Parts: sequence; structure tokens; C-alpha cells
Amino acid sequence: MEIITTATSLRARLRDEGAIAFVPTMGNLHEGHLDLVRLARQRGGCVVASIFVNPLQFGANEDFDTYPRTLDADCARLEGLANVVFAPSAREMYPEKQTLFVEPPPIADELCGAFRPGHFRGMATVVLKLFNLVQPQVAIFGKKDYQQLAIIRQMVAQFNLPVEIVGAETSRAADGLALSSRNQYLSIAHRTEAAFLYQTLAGMRQALQEGATDYPALERQAAQALAARGWQVDYVAVRKQADLALPECGESNLVILAAARLGQTRLIDNLEVCI
Ligand code: PAF
Repeated sequence: MEIITTATSLRARLRDEGAIAFVPTMGNLHEGHLDLVRLARQRGGCVVASIFVNPLQFGANEDFDTYPRTLDADCARLEGLANVVFAPSAREMYPEKQTLFVEPPPIADELCGAFRPGHFRGMATVVLKLFNLVQPQVAIFGKKDYQQLAIIRQMVAQFNLPVEIVGAETSRAADGLALSSRNQYLSIAHRTEAAFLYQTLAGMRQALQEGATDYPALERQAAQALAARGWQVDYVAVRKQADLALPECGESNLVILAAARLGQTRLIDNLEVCI
């Protein structure tokens, strides 16, 4: 496995590779990330993982400065799974001030976007830059970041980018908690409580599968149940899988999405529901 830190060396290393499967990450890798890399390996060809904590996608009051940077441990975990790790500095990714951005669609201002203004614009911009540098045939993203995945799919379609986007199922702990780098911020008590987010979504999924169609009522009840246990709820929402728009009554391909805080830790999760 080679660790590459500059765009020039990356291009030189990948120039003669036929097929490239790409997994972009912000590092601090856990089993969920490794599952994405394993999926990339199944696609064959050269597997490239990037590790870059992208300043453009963090708001002023977010955890950019404290986001865990664990490059040595990350590379050790990727050994034997990835062929190339691209770990650029911020100066390498942004040698000049970034004044051109990917302007994401209106859905980027809803759900997580309503609570993280500019996040998806910064995310889409760095993903486009990474695609241009790596030029993969396939790129793997976790469904845990469902809204991110939807925006990337739209970017790839609308900009005719020659890359296949694969959405990988969310990796979960035994109690259902979606694996996330931010889980390590949780206190022991909050880590136990954190599984309730998944349980809440699973309860909503069951209600939908049993015929419930009053989506706003389901969202309200779930938000109240979380708040009653001390969660600060950003949103619980039932949306259409295809474009995250509000569903008509009786829509068959739904996704339930939620974001809520336990103490200082913001957790997100979602569950697809096919009826
Ligand atoms: O999901 C992430 O880790 C990041 O948003 C991504 C896709 C690597 C872009 O910085």
C-alpha cells in the first residue's frame, strides 16, 4: 500500500491503472469505513482511499479543529485492503482560495442542511475535486450519510461525471447504533442511550410497513419520544428515497431520516422502508 500526499504523485501513480475503485473518507476509520473499502475491493482493480478532513464542509461552530486525525492508525487499518491512500494537506487540496463551488440542489438546505448551512456545498465541492484527481470508475459511499449520497448522485448525473456511485448499507454495532467516528465522543451513559435512535427509526419502519400513512404524526411521535429521554432533536423525517422530497400518501419507497444530539454529540441515522 502506498501513501501519497500530493496531487502530482497521485496522478503519476494512477496514470496506468485500468479500473479504480474509490472510497473517500475523513479518516478516523472504523469498521464501517473498512466495509466500504472491502466493497471497493470486490469491484476489482486498484483501490484508492482518501483521508482528508475537509475544512469547506464544517461550519464555524462545528468540530473541524477537534475532529480526530489519526492518519497512522488509519493507514495501519487500510494495509492489505487499499492499494493507495491519498492523504493530502489542506494546502495541497486548496493551493489557492477556493472561490468556485458546486452549488447543490435545494434539498441540500433541508434535513441536515437546515442545521449545517453550507455543509453540502463544501462536501460536493471536495468530492468533485477528489473525483477529478482520482478519476475512479466506481466510488463507494455509505448510506448512513443518506442525504450526502443523494446529492452526490445528483451531482454525478447532472455534471455527466464518468463514475458509478455505489451506496453501501450502514454498518451497525450489535445494539443497532450506526457506526460513526463521532460515537467516540459519547459518554458511557450516552453510548447506551444512543441505540434508542435506531430503535425509534425501527419502530417507525414497522408502523409504516403495517400501513401507517400519517407521516407527520409518526415524525412528531418519534421526536417527542426522543426528547422525553433527553435528546435534542434536529429532525425526524419521512421522505421519498429517490429524491428526498416529501412523500405522497401511499408512496412505496420511503426513507426515515433523523438527526439528534445527546449532550454535545450529534448523531444521524436513517432506515429505508419498502412497502
Ligand atoms: O462522508 C465523508 O466522510 C465526507 O463527507 C466525504 C465524502 C469524505 C467528503 O469530505
